[in-house]
Amino acid sequence: MRLILLGPPGAGKGTQAQRLIHKHNIVQLSTGEMLRAAVAAQTPVGLRAKDIMASGGLVPDEIVIGIISDRLDQPDMKNGFILDGFPRTVPQAEALDDLLRKKHMRLDAVIELRVNESALLSRVETRVAEMRARGEEVRIDDTPEVLSKRLASYRSLTEPLIHYYSERRKLLTVDGMMTIEHVTREINRILAAIGAVETRTTRKPARMAARKTVRPARKAAKVAKKAGKKPAKTARKAGKATSGRTRKTVRGSAKGSGKGLARQGGKAAKKVTKKRAKA
Ligand code: AP5
Ligand code: MG
Repeated sequence: MRLILLGPPGAGKGTQAQRLIHKHNIVQLSTGEMLRAAVAAQTPVGLRAKDIMASGGLVPDEIVIGIISDRLDQPDMKNGFILDGFPRTVPQAEALDDLLRKKHMRLDAVIELRVNESALLSRVETRVAEMRARGEEVRIDDTPEVLSKRLASYRSLTEPLIHYYSERRKLLTVDGMMTIEHVTREINRILAAIGAVETRTTRKPARMAARKTVRPARKAAKVAKKAGKKPAKTARKAGKATSGRTRKTVRGSAKGSGKGLARQGGKAAKKVTKKRAKA
C-alpha cells in the first residue's frame, strides 16, 4: 500500500501514520521528522533547513525531493509506505510522480485530513504538553506565531495539491475533526473500499463470487473450442464484465473530495459485492 497523508499542521498526519504503519506493516516517511533529525545531527541539509523550519517556511523542493528519492530506494519500502508531509508543493508532487514511475511504483490514494483551522492551535498546544510530559524537547515551530506562518504556507503552497490529486482521481477526504480512533477507522474503511488493503468483509466474498462467475465462463469457452464451436457471447462477456466493472466503480469514488465521496466508495464496494454474490 502506498499512501499520502495531506493536511495542515496539527491535522493528525503523524498520529494517523503511526497507527496505520503498525496495522499494515508498512513504513512512515515523514519529511518533517527526517529534517528535524538532520537539524539535530547538524548535517549540511540540517544546517540549511534549521532557520527555514523555525520560521514556518518550506525547505527548498530540491532538498526534500532528494531525501525522498534516496529513501524510496531502501529495501524496507517493498511492503509499502505512508508519505506524511510530502509532497507539499506542486513541483514536489510532479517530482514524486516521476520517481514512482521510474521505480515502477503506483500510488493507491491521497488522504486529505480536513480540520477546522480553529482547532489546530489547541492541538499543537496539546502536543507541546504531551512532549513536555514525556521529557522530550518541544518542537521549535510549535508556537502560535510560527503556527500561523505554517498555516499560511499550507494555504498558498500545499492546498493546490487537493486539486492536483483530485484531477488524477487519487484524492479521498476524511473528516479530521472526529476522534483519533474514528479517523483511523474511516481511513481503513476507505482503504478497503478502494482495494488497497484486503478485509474479510469486502474483499473475500467479492473474490469468491467472481470466481464462481468467471470459471464457468472460461470452462464454457474451453468446451466450445474443443468441440470446434465459437463460445457463447454471454459466457465470454460475463467474466470480463465482472472484473472490469468493479475496478471502475470503486476507483471512480476516489475522484473529488469530501466525506460524502469517501462514503460513496464504501457503498459502491458493497453494491458490487452484492451484484457479484448474486451472479
Ligand atoms: P512537519 O513535521 O511535517 O509538520 P506539519 O505539517 O506542520 O504537521 P505537524 O507535524 O505539526 O502535524 P500533524 O498533522 O503531524 O499532527 P499530529 O499527528 O502531530 O513539518 C515541519 C516543517 O518541516 C515544515 O514547516 C517545513 O518547514 C519542513 N518540511 C517538512 N516537510 C517538508 C516538505 N515536504 N517540503 C518543504 N518543507 C518541509 O497531531 C497534532 C496533535 O493533535 C497531537 O497532540 C495529537 O495527539 C492531536 N490529534 C491528532 N489527531 C487528533 C484528533 N483527531 N482529535 C484530537 N486530537 C488529535
Ligand atoms: Mg507531523
